[in-house]
Amino acid sequence: MMQMLFRFLLITQTLKMKFEKDTEDIKNKFLGELSSTSLRKEIEDIKTKYLGRKGIITNKLKNIKNIVPEDRPLYGKVLNLLKSDIEEEIEKRSEAVEKGPKKKEGFFDYTMPGDRKWLGHLHPITTTMDEIIGVFLKMGFTVELGPDIETDFYNFEALNFPKNHPSRDTQDTFFLENNLLLRTHTSPVQIRVMEKRKPPIRIVSPGRCYRVDSFDSSHSPVFYQVEGLYVDKNVTLSDLVGTLDTFAKAIFGESTRTKLTSHFFPFTEPSAEVQVSCPFCDEKGCTTCKNTGWIEIMGCGMVHPEVFRKVGYDADKYTGFAFGMGVERVCMLEYGIHNLRLLFENDLRFIQQF
Ligand code: PHE
Repeated sequence: MMQMLFRFLLITQTLKMKFEKDTEDIKNKFLGELSSTSLRKEIEDIKTKYLGRKGIITNKLKNIKNIVPEDRPLYGKVLNLLKSDIEEEIEKRSEAVEKGPKKKEGFFDYTMPGDRKWLGHLHPITTTMDEIIGVFLKMGFTVELGPDIETDFYNFEALNFPKNHPSRDTQDTFFLENNLLLRTHTSPVQIRVMEKRKPPIRIVSPGRCYRVDSFDSSHSPVFYQVEGLYVDKNVTLSDLVGTLDTFAKAIFGESTRTKLTSHFFPFTEPSAEVQVSCPFCDEKGCTTCKNTGWIEIMGCGMVHPEVFRKVGYDADKYTGFAFGMGVERVCMLEYGIHNLRLLFENDLRFIQQF
């Protein structure tokens, strides 16, 4: 009997020691796991693992009923102590994570939703403008810019639009105060550059222009032009034709043909409109070219001697050509866009196609 009792005590003693070692191990393992957390979610997971309904501690507490009744209080006490220790540690850790720096150095939180950067890109008008300028840069032109708000002098007078002359009516102008206006074309840059410099001059000037126009599928009160000016001794009309033909082929393709049809601008003489063979139908006629096979893309001409006089150049010594093209028109032809308004509405569904 004594022997049995002794054996029993020995077993329970061994069990107790094992139990104590177990609880110690659990606690150490728990502390190790907890210390490597830095997110609320990770702490929550550990809490569930140890204290959840099927958690390690919860299971142990449930198993107390299998222990000899006299040992149950001791086991219960130890487990409950462990449980409250774990709760306390979790509480402390949660507070530390909540208050502490959100990201440790070198730490990457894989659970965060992706923070995708939206990459923008150039607007098709800008791309077209860059392409146009690129062609002329290769031919030795440089870029000059002018102001959007101009004086009557630069926009009209110096370009040989006499005051009260009907030619001004072709450019429905937004007039501002003090004889200022929103430039109706990029041609004033010609004057500004020639005033500053002596020939040879070979420039292109991109920029925004404004006219009192209603907004429809082919008109906008704001639009873009690229101006060109070449002044030197012996610049001829055939230089103009060759330059613009080279340009048209570079933009619309080698098989493109160009033709000049006579026109009037006060600041060029002779003046012309440049037409390119329709890139959509090879001159057969389609809706884009209104069945003519040709599309007008710019105005041009030889610089009028009166313009040279206005900027103090000797009109007997120098000649030059100038041109001004509509960027939207070129852009629409290049990309097959049929409504000008799409270029200004900034609807991302449209813009993202380019
Ligand atoms: N400025 C003219 C326009 O806007 C275009 C042009 C420029 C014509 C240069 C001839 C020479 O219509």
